[in-house]
Amino acid sequence: MNIYNLIDDICQGYTPTKEEVEALLCTYEPYNSYLFSAAQAITKKYHDNIIHIRGIIEFSNYCRCSCAYCGLNAANKKLKRYRMEPKEIVETAKEAYDAGYRTLVLQSGEDLWYTREKISEIIKGIKSIGDIAITLSVGERDYEDYKQWRKDGADRFLLKHETINENLYNKLHTHSNLENRIRCLNNLKELGYQVGDGFMVGLPGQTLGDIAEDILFLNRLDVDMAGIGPFIPHPHTELKSAEAGSNEMTIKAVAITRLILKKVHLPATTALWTLNTEDGKKAFDSGANVVMLKVEPYKYRRLYEIYPKNLGNENSIKQERLRMEELILSLGKQVAQDRGDSIKFLEGQ
Ligand code: 5AD
Repeated sequence: MNIYNLIDDICQGYTPTKEEVEALLCTYEPYNSYLFSAAQAITKKYHDNIIHIRGIIEFSNYCRCSCAYCGLNAANKKLKRYRMEPKEIVETAKEAYDAGYRTLVLQSGEDLWYTREKISEIIKGIKSIGDIAITLSVGERDYEDYKQWRKDGADRFLLKHETINENLYNKLHTHSNLENRIRCLNNLKELGYQVGDGFMVGLPGQTLGDIAEDILFLNRLDVDMAGIGPFIPHPHTELKSAEAGSNEMTIKAVAITRLILKKVHLPATTALWTLNTEDGKKAFDSGANVVMLKVEPYKYRRLYEIYPKNLGNENSIKQERLRMEELILSLGKQVAQDRGDSIKFLEGQ
């Protein structure tokens, strides 16, 4: 297999097989550099070197699930739990809007305290502030919930498939199963959400073949956004002694995803930055065009511990955004001023 030709063919629109994606995941120099430059060229062509900064409000760390990798899992009794009131969420959104954010991600554990009506109230409250795209990330809920929130004005939804290896998925998520997750993703698409999927790299038991299948699944689902991050062990989970995923493999997965899904929005995920800041930046030169910054008050940020992380010094929402803008400019890229809707979605309108 000639790796250079394969990369060129994918850039021209060829969809690789699982074996071909696996071969790309295994590459070393000088092929790696060729892969990263090809991914960067596609990003420039379709996204014009513009990076989108999204604000994320992590509004509750209560969770009914027992995901084996996640620090918010219901069995973790060591974690102090919090919920932000709808009013406080809307106030945070206003501060983020004033700091320049035009997309806000509302994320939480799977917390049914936020009923359909409460989430509706939050969506309407935020929409009344100004032209802000709302991305929900609240997990698996009923079709009718998703339908109502879409009607209320929610634009996008993030729900990662985490791993497409069904045995592994079902082992890591004893409270649910992969079939249900995919049903939710299909429901969200049908309801007209811009859909964000994604997966983790380096889960214990995951093979390179699985990662190849993960990437090809994103293509089959024809997603608008995809978050790919390394697995990071958390001390209060079943997987506490497992090894962390590799940032290099994660960045390769991002680059290959960019070659295949040219128009998709791909974040340099927070998990990448957590393991190594330089790798966060490197992702912007390998296909990523989005970054998410936390905007909820620090007293909550400290408790939203999906995986261990260092939050650094406290700064205002505005200062933190400015610092990210400077970093993006220093990398020779620009900062998006618009809502950053999915290209595929805009073309369909
Ligand atoms: N390491 C890395 N990513 C994790 N996530 C949850 N737990 C971990 C972990 N230990 C990711 C999942 C989830 C997103 C909110 O965070 O992909 O979808």
